[in-house]
Amino acid sequence: MLGNFSYHNPTKLYFGDESLNYLKDELKNYGPVVLLNYGSGSVKKNGIYDEVVAILKEAGKTIVENPGVMSNPTLEKLHEGVKIAREHHVDMILSLGGGSVCDYSKGVAASVFYDGDYWDRFWLQGKHPDAGQRILPIGCILTMAGTGSEMNGGSVITDAEHKFKVGHVFDARLMPKFSILNPKYTMTVPDEQMKAGIYDIMNHIFEQYFSDFDDNTSDYLSEGLMRSLIVSSRAAVKNPQDYEARSNIMWTATWALNTLLKCGKTQDWMVHMIGHSVGAWTHAPHGFCLAAVSMAYYKRAMKPGLAKFVRFAKNVWNVCPDGKTDEQIAEAGLEALKNWMLEIGLPLTISELGATEEMIPGITQGTICYPAGYMDLKPADVTEILKESM
Ligand code: NZQ
Ligand code: ZN
Repeated sequence: MLGNFSYHNPTKLYFGDESLNYLKDELKNYGPVVLLNYGSGSVKKNGIYDEVVAILKEAGKTIVENPGVMSNPTLEKLHEGVKIAREHHVDMILSLGGGSVCDYSKGVAASVFYDGDYWDRFWLQGKHPDAGQRILPIGCILTMAGTGSEMNGGSVITDAEHKFKVGHVFDARLMPKFSILNPKYTMTVPDEQMKAGIYDIMNHIFEQYFSDFDDNTSDYLSEGLMRSLIVSSRAAVKNPQDYEARSNIMWTATWALNTLLKCGKTQDWMVHMIGHSVGAWTHAPHGFCLAAVSMAYYKRAMKPGLAKFVRFAKNVWNVCPDGKTDEQIAEAGLEALKNWMLEIGLPLTISELGATEEMIPGITQGTICYPAGYMDLKPADVTEILKESM
């Protein structure tokens, strides 16, 4: 049964290969000083940076540059961005890049006008900015599909010194005011990042799908998104320049984590909690960290969640139930998932990402545990999952 909820998502989307044309009009809504956050250079190589800067200049904006936002952005870099934004009295933030730059931009937007320790309040305590606190508006030009950050309030930051990666889901005030999604931009994403993004999308759907046994609209939506992703991921891996596949992947990514699927249902998110800690220790791409612990996690979740795993096998992977027990159907579904992961080139172990036995206690310690999905994981269970994922 669907629980009670309110639904409001304020992000305006522009989608398609002409979507950057709308930036000019959007910029009219904001003040003259724009903080331009971007990553480690891909946008300069593929020309997107030049296109965006030309539009900003034509609109008469003062551009404050903040390059070097790394993949899995760090607390140290967050401090730097907050300082720059304060010094230059910026009016808005333009995020040019993947989920990391967008997450980072939200972090800066929330922190610039907060007087206290923003890391402690927003990420460690998980609180929202006070009702009266000023927040900078964000616009996002997305260059990589995966996180859904372009239409949600999530902001994941890594405290590199303490090897602790933690996300906070801010309320609607921190969601981008607009996001520009041009699938063509994603075509220069390195192969392994494309694959990591594909599994990130899949896992966002899993985290909201594998919980409870009630009949709800969200699970039907999830199954449709999963089926689309399986088809388009196969096509994109075969031909990364396939616009149809890349555009479907981009759109699926947005819907996988834009606050819709979770409406009225319980969620899991423990693969993400373990994956974040693996990422803090290995610096591997986020989607790879999730992939590498998934088989061990879902095999364990299958028993308490059997009916849902049977449904997953039948509705997503077309497993024929004839002559099989429920366990056999569910196992066949997980086998199909594993085969798809191997087919598109995802890592199935954390050792492939550079994790060692010696890291397991630290990764366990950095994993935030809570009862979720079909299990109530304790640190000892996390350790076992990590060992099984080696
Ligand atoms: O730094 P640049 O030069 O931009 O290169 C990036 C980066 O190396 C490159 N790239 C992006 N677009 C490109 C491109 N290279 C060539 N052409 C392009 N068009 O790809 C690399 C990865 O980019 P990144 O932004 O790090 O990837 P992603 O979008 O997967 O973001 C990962 C971050 O998002 C967090 C993750 O934990 C991680 O820190 N997440 C955010 C979520 C949210 N906001 O809701 C939820 C997710 O579960 C996730 O935790
Ligand atoms: Zn994710």
